[in-house]
Amino acid sequence: MRFGVLTGGGDCPGLNAAVRAVVYRAARAGHESVGFLDGWKGVRDGQSRPLRPSDLVDAVTRGGTILGSSRTNPFAKPEDADRALATLDRLGIDVLVAIGGDDTLSAARELHRRGRRVVGVPKTMDNDVGGTDWTFGFDSASTVAMDAVGRLRDTAASHHRVVLLEVMGRHAGWVALATGLAAAADATLLPEEPYDEPRLLARVRAAVAARGYALVVVSEGVDLGQAAGTAAAHDEFGHELLRERGVGATLARRIEAATGIESRSAQIGHIQRGGPPTLFDRLLATRLGAAAVDLALAGRFGEVAVLRGEEVRGVPFDDALRETKRVPPAWRDLLHTFEAE
Ligand code: F6P
Repeated sequence: MRFGVLTGGGDCPGLNAAVRAVVYRAARAGHESVGFLDGWKGVRDGQSRPLRPSDLVDAVTRGGTILGSSRTNPFAKPEDADRALATLDRLGIDVLVAIGGDDTLSAARELHRRGRRVVGVPKTMDNDVGGTDWTFGFDSASTVAMDAVGRLRDTAASHHRVVLLEVMGRHAGWVALATGLAAAADATLLPEEPYDEPRLLARVRAAVAARGYALVVVSEGVDLGQAAGTAAAHDEFGHELLRERGVGATLARRIEAATGIESRSAQIGHIQRGGPPTLFDRLLATRLGAAAVDLALAGRFGEVAVLRGEEVRGVPFDDALRETKRVPPAWRDLLHTFEAE
């Protein structure tokens, strides 16, 4: 068989590990692999490269994606879908392995519905794909953010300031939750909870009174009730680019105005998405990439390799994509255990 593989959507550490696992696992079973460049764009435009194990020997150690990525929707226009299908036919692709988040996997499901053999691998630093316990990229991104809070602690303490760190995560607060918990922030704001300004100000005042500074982690997706009409760029799948709203900077201004305590904010943006994957992400990506090939070899097309507990297994696209996974009450309760007055 000839396997095609693509990485779509926002990049994250672990993508190369997953691609490597696909190519090695397929090669071990006697099959060859082709990589599509820049996600669905490469399928639509017919841009690909052969992939051999020797091309990927140490790819597990590297961040980003050697295949490139994009937020291209191959079903945006009927003619785009026709071109994508024609590419698969022309290159003789027997199975396509789509590695991506909700958007990329939704396009993969559509391709499967149109009769193609497709399997999926979930990834995203947001950790919000419903069908899997964890996605690779999340651990690496949260580790970077945790380290950033440690650095901000030094400067916040020196200047007796309130310092906010805005982290990515779109409409799920997993990165903020992990960062706030692991870096001992004084307050952590998640999109899953309504914004409570009096509570935030009380937390900040208490921390400054206790030790002279305060650290706040805020997810980019928190709704501060900003006026409509503030900057709102969108990607090709129609998602608002939340960092443009600048919730961290807005909050810093509000806190300073309300408390009189000098406040600063930092936005680490795409720094969270780069760099080598953590051990956890390397292992998870490797397991899921290999499992996707195993699903295909077993004829289980239309499935996504996911992590449930300790086990990697296949579930139908519909199960994997049923819902956006948000931070549930038990995790939020644990977070707030450390924010007691
Ligand atoms: O979905 C992953 C993610 O990193 C989000 O956390 C963030 O909101 C978005 O992508 C940023 O997208 P872009 O890289 O297109 O600016």
